[in-house]
Amino acid sequence: MSRFRIAPSILSADFGHLADEVRAAEDAGADWVHLDVMDGHFVPNLTIGPDIVRAVANVTSLVVDVHLMVSEPAHLIPSFVDAGAHCIGVHVEACAHLHRTLQEIRAAGVRACVVLNPGTAPELVRPVLPMVDQVLVMTVNPGFGGQSFIPETLPKLYQLRRWIELQHHPIDLSVDGGISADTIESVALHGADCFIMGSAFFKSGDYKCFVDSIRQRLAAYERHDAATRESQISSSGP
Ligand code: DX5
Ligand code: ZN
Repeated sequence: MSRFRIAPSILSADFGHLADEVRAAEDAGADWVHLDVMDGHFVPNLTIGPDIVRAVANVTSLVVDVHLMVSEPAHLIPSFVDAGAHCIGVHVEACAHLHRTLQEIRAAGVRACVVLNPGTAPELVRPVLPMVDQVLVMTVNPGFGGQSFIPETLPKLYQLRRWIELQHHPIDLSVDGGISADTIESVALHGADCFIMGSAFFKSGDYKCFVDSIRQRLAAYERHDAATRESQISSSGP
């Protein structure tokens, strides 16, 4: 089985046929389904809450990955756990007590993910690496689907991959924003192993064909180790 995870973000799905869209993503070979919760405060947009997460969790066996773009999200954790989330991500920029919030997510029995914005230094999440199961690097500024990938996030991804390899437990390194057939290879080269894709996935027309083509592109990176990664990154320039 591949070490890579493909996670369609329902933000770009047809909300009028959400259950069908999620089933179609599962049939196409996706690994996770990614749900974006926005509060109109931390980000300038509003989306879904626990009821939609529950509706999605009820129609799929995919891993339900919830991305909270919410200021001070700690009080919402029990509702999303109850709704069927398997993983909950909180932004380092949104939590005054990040350590405690991540502890609460894990104590509730789900995977804890720390998320960082493109303008946030990776050093800010380093102290919490021992207590997370996933790090999510935003490769666009959060709030909307369909934005362009920010290439300046690549060195941060690579730095986080090196720190993750020093940890004593597995941590997924995911990317979110502007991920498509055009950008997937460079994020894989820099150490990402989970790929959240909204518009590229749901606007592709043929989901199965899209997943197959992405997996084909990723095949070359399947057995990349730290040394190969380092030499390829340094030979590909700054
Ligand atoms: C944006 C969300 C993303 C969004 C990505 O703030 O976190 O999950 O759906 O959309 P694309 O893949 O279109 O950039
Ligand atoms: Zn997201």
